[in-house]
Amino acid sequence: MNFDGKVIVIPGATSGLGKNAALRFAAAGARVVFGGRRESEGVAIMEEIAAQGGSSLFVRCDVSLSADVAALVGRAVSEYGHLDMAYNVAGVSGDAFSQFADYDEAQWQQTININLTGMFYCMKHELIALKESGGGAIVNMSSVAGLGATPGGAAYVASKHAIIGMTKTAALDYAADGIRINAIAPGVVKTEMMERGITEIPDLEAQMLAHQPIGRLGTMDEVTNAVMWLCSDAASFVTGATLPVDGAYLLT
Ligand SMILES: NC(=O)c1ccc[n+]([C@@H]2O[C@H](COP(=O)([O-])OP(=O)(O)OC[C@H]3O[C@@H](n4cnc5c(N)ncnc54)[C@H](O)[C@@H]3O)[C@@H](O)[C@H]2O)c1
Repeated sequence: MNFDGKVIVIPGATSGLGKNAALRFAAAGARVVFGGRRESEGVAIMEEIAAQGGSSLFVRCDVSLSADVAALVGRAVSEYGHLDMAYNVAGVSGDAFSQFADYDEAQWQQTININLTGMFYCMKHELIALKESGGGAIVNMSSVAGLGATPGGAAYVASKHAIIGMTKTAALDYAADGIRINAIAPGVVKTEMMERGITEIPDLEAQMLAHQPIGRLGTMDEVTNAVMWLCSDAASFVTGATLPVDGAYLLT
């Protein structure tokens, strides 16, 4: 993939899949404007990209605050003149996994604020900039939990389903403006979020592998490959879609 001269925003890229994508897009020639709440991690990633000869900019950003996201997208446009792509990957797992009626209300609000309202703010500000730039592509992070369900995951599952709905409606709203909007639904990928789950829940990794026809968990590069394809002109007739990247996990 070659993204020479293209500008991408990635809110929430200070670890895991977002960080992987920031490094990969920069290595493929894109100018990467990425956000996150952790300043030191953001600066370290910027330095890593610069050391590899890439171009990036870290802007402190909490996606649950509309003004923060507006500032991040605004910085991409003021620095590089336009916006071509966005990858909305920030998310939390909603730690309070418990039976539906016992689900902690504060945890519900926090998870929805970040995963769903945060995604709405990201799409809103990116769409304004993409329209002014004459078109582009957005990839939204859903999950296999957005197509299926996991017990005890009320807020996470609800937010990941809703992201697919927002992706579809926005794809219709902007199809005539040359803006493609798609979602990805990864299965289990070993990132910091998943490592935390594996540490907290005994046998979680073994349980996940038991449902993985391909016989292993996914890698961060495999998810980023799908994101890059959806952002590229190779996917020029793909919009409003949700692509599972799950090794057939959903089929079991
Ligand atoms: N790891 C998996 O197996 C898997 C599978 C499917 C979907 N996902 C999704 O992928 C995304 C990334 O998860 P990950 O596995 O890389 O975990 P992670 O914890 O490493 O990454 C989550 C990222 O979101 C950022 N973030 C959280 N709240 C934020 C906020 N308010 N403002 C800005 N940034 C914020 C974090 O800083 C972090 O960079 C999440 O949306 C997650 O639901 C992960």
